[in-house]
Amino acid sequence: MSVQTTTKSRMAGAREVIARCEALAKFSEDTNSLRRTFLSPPMHNCHAAVYSWLKSAGVSVRIDAAGNLRGFYPGADPKSPRMLIGSHLDTVPNAGKYDGMLGVVLAIALLEELDGTRLPFGIEVVGFSEEEGVRFGVPFIGSRALVGRIDPDLLQRRDYNGISVREAIQQFGLDDKQLGAATLDGNVLGYLEFHIEQGPVLEKLERQLGIVEALVGQTRLAVQFFGKTNHAGTTPMEARHDALAGAAEWMVAIESRAKQIPGLVATVGFIEAKPGATNVIPGEVRLSLDVRHRSDEVRMSAVRELTELAEGIAKKRGLLAQWNALLEQASVLLDEFLADQIESAIRLAGCEPHRMTSGAGHDAMILAEQVPSAMVFLRSPGGISHDPAETVLLEDVEKAIDCGVHLLSRLAASQEFLGRKSRA
Ligand code: GLV
Ligand code: MN
Ligand code: MN
Repeated sequence: MSVQTTTKSRMAGAREVIARCEALAKFSEDTNSLRRTFLSPPMHNCHAAVYSWLKSAGVSVRIDAAGNLRGFYPGADPKSPRMLIGSHLDTVPNAGKYDGMLGVVLAIALLEELDGTRLPFGIEVVGFSEEEGVRFGVPFIGSRALVGRIDPDLLQRRDYNGISVREAIQQFGLDDKQLGAATLDGNVLGYLEFHIEQGPVLEKLERQLGIVEALVGQTRLAVQFFGKTNHAGTTPMEARHDALAGAAEWMVAIESRAKQIPGLVATVGFIEAKPGATNVIPGEVRLSLDVRHRSDEVRMSAVRELTELAEGIAKKRGLLAQWNALLEQASVLLDEFLADQIESAIRLAGCEPHRMTSGAGHDAMILAEQVPSAMVFLRSPGGISHDPAETVLLEDVEKAIDCGVHLLSRLAASQEFLGRKSRA
């Protein structure tokens, strides 16, 4: 089946995609930079904008109880199965405009390209409410709702202001008792996510689009060092139990050990010292540790080693080190059939594909638990992400739309794809 699409030029569609990402970047919790965390007030404005674009494309929209925006474009038959296309609408602090949002607006661009043409499957556009893990320290809350993995512990988790996930859902005007209705039914053929690469690989290879075959696993820990608060002027250096000095020693040890393990990345991205005054020896430090590797075994053994290092440093300095795991996410292989189809679609769009592993986490790694999942990466200029300088090239967005249209066309004609069933 060849998909009939609109006569609007792909370049005009690409321009609109970029303009929409820029429009969404205005909805922020911070005044001079972009921060839009899970169920924060600006997420309402973001939903309203995405809603208006989907409505104009003739799509019905709802917000599920986890705050995911879900727009449904029906297939040829009301009983047609669905394919999901999406990404996330939350951001890190001081974020760029494309991480997550690009995948949502590209999905809308594909529906606009279809221009009312019905496929043998419906398309559900999903704007996930939470992927970054900023507000509650735990990522993927939006996609976890779709696979039915929002457990009571997660609902009780509290943010920096003491608000629980359950309360955040209620404060956003949603009903946590309806979380069950957010889960996928069995009528889903697959999940597709477009995302910026967030790294330097495609740019270096001069490729516009990449196919993600696998995503690395990640561990996220919340760590605390406890020492003894005392006077900065009167306590001799040898009598101190400085929790921040201990944490600092550990951080440097993490960096040097991680460099010795090929492929391992380990990051302390958050640190807070208490009581936080110039003339007081810090008595307590809270910090985060994020460890990733494509081998789960290597990652888990590195985490064991790094936590043992924390214990050793704490003991030597008369401190106490404690930690708890906020995330243990195994590495994930994506669907081979869909990857092959994407490879052909990239070639049909006139690009040379490149298969790769993602070092970043994505909603696709959660959806893959239940539905065949696939990702297309767009090259990231300068390899920059999680920074306002994050960007994407207009010509790469144009090729991504082209690739998406070819992919939908191939899938619409594929008995193998149409015969597939999700594990939901
Ligand atoms: C998401 O951006 C991640 O932390 O990989
Ligand atoms: Mn992302
Ligand atoms: Mn991100």
